[in-house]
Amino acid sequence: MSRRKRTAGLDLGTSRVTAIIGEVDDYGQVQLLGVGEAPAEGLRKGVVVNIDKTVVAIQAATVAAERMAGLRIESAVCTLGGPHLASQNSRGVVAVSRDHGFEVREEDVERVIEAARAVSVPSDRQVIHVLPRSFTVDGQDGVRDAVGMTGQRLEVETHIVTAAQTSLHNVVKCVHQSGFDVEEVVAHGLASGEGVLTANEVDLGVCLVDIGAETTDVVLYAEGSVLRMAVLPVGGNHVTNDIAIGLRTTPADAETLKLNYGHTLPDVIPPEERIEVRQVGGDRIQAMPRRFLAEIIGPRMREIFQMAREEMRKSSYDGRLPAGVVVTGGAARLMGTTDAAQAVFDSAVRLGLPCGVGGLADRAGGPSFAAAVGLVKWGARSAPVAVLAGVRGAHSPAIGTAYQRTVRWLRDFF
Ligand SMILES: Nc1ncnc2c1ncn2[C@@H]1O[C@H](COP(=O)(O)OP(=O)(O)O)[C@@H](O)[C@H]1O
Ligand SMILES: [Mg+2]
Repeated sequence: MSRRKRTAGLDLGTSRVTAIIGEVDDYGQVQLLGVGEAPAEGLRKGVVVNIDKTVVAIQAATVAAERMAGLRIESAVCTLGGPHLASQNSRGVVAVSRDHGFEVREEDVERVIEAARAVSVPSDRQVIHVLPRSFTVDGQDGVRDAVGMTGQRLEVETHIVTAAQTSLHNVVKCVHQSGFDVEEVVAHGLASGEGVLTANEVDLGVCLVDIGAETTDVVLYAEGSVLRMAVLPVGGNHVTNDIAIGLRTTPADAETLKLNYGHTLPDVIPPEERIEVRQVGGDRIQAMPRRFLAEIIGPRMREIFQMAREEMRKSSYDGRLPAGVVVTGGAARLMGTTDAAQAVFDSAVRLGLPCGVGGLADRAGGPSFAAAVGLVKWGARSAPVAVLAGVRGAHSPAIGTAYQRTVRWLRDFF
């Protein structure tokens, strides 16, 4: 068996479950080996509401990915979505050990991050990410890498993401019942950011907006780390519902109209263009201007972007966004989406497509694959070579600290 590092990502979306198997090649690049998808019926607004249906979807998606890759997986990095995700800032402070001449070592950095993790969260919530933003050594702030510096007092500014324990538990349960171990749980928005953003954008300051089926993730990054994350309870399916009500047709027909003729900007649609709409409660087909469709879609998409902008404004970050806004997620495929976002944010907007991977990248190229591809990249950064032996397998010295921490919390959790 190849000793190359392999990782699997399992994105539990409201509309579908996506499984991707990847491998890190000799040059450190992630190559996608297998991609599998299955419609999900057991989730609502990013949260599991039916275990059995979710298990069926996970198994169908993983079997397809395994078949394409020609190998089996035992564990996966999984997304966790839903408006129950919340984020807050947290500080940690520790004294640097005297034993090594007050030189900050890896252990001190881990201790200070643990200290930041120890914020009081309600008993029904669980910390899923502790993202270090910057360190302060003896009052000198803005330190990105504290290891090797000399000082007596080490502080860290972190951003913490918490999740409702029941939602987390149900995701882990579904993955276990499907026959896999959970290596790590990643907030859907962070996975998506990992999938489509460049290091440069994250350094400069960028706002990621992932519009899924029933949720929209908003993640604000600056100076190389996350400043704020929020999940809005709206998404592409709300657009479909608006169309169904507005044109008096079924949700299925409304979805087809949206996919085939949808646009966010009525003004660019020639007035003479017509679409045929089958009305509910009869077989009558009515022709109407395609503009009607855009007049329904436009306001809803703008509303989603306005809500995202409000979330961004709630952050303490008052700087501009030099790298602008990146819009991704399945609903970003709607024509005119970036123009609608541009009008609301009044800054540069680009469509976020999965990047930085090779192999079967074309099989996972659209914006709806942002999070799934991001999971594989995330797993490739933190997973050890022995990962396919499962979470409870051998602990190689190569295990990253982030990975160890996750395994620790997963253990605490059960
Ligand atoms: N070509 C398209 N044009 C417009 N909307 C689309 C298109 N393809 C998918 N969508 C919408 O994207 C949403 C699903 O996005 P996705 O990111 O896969 O969601 P989730 O991660 O929540 O499962 C649905 O609302 C769907 O209608
Ligand atoms: Mg998604």
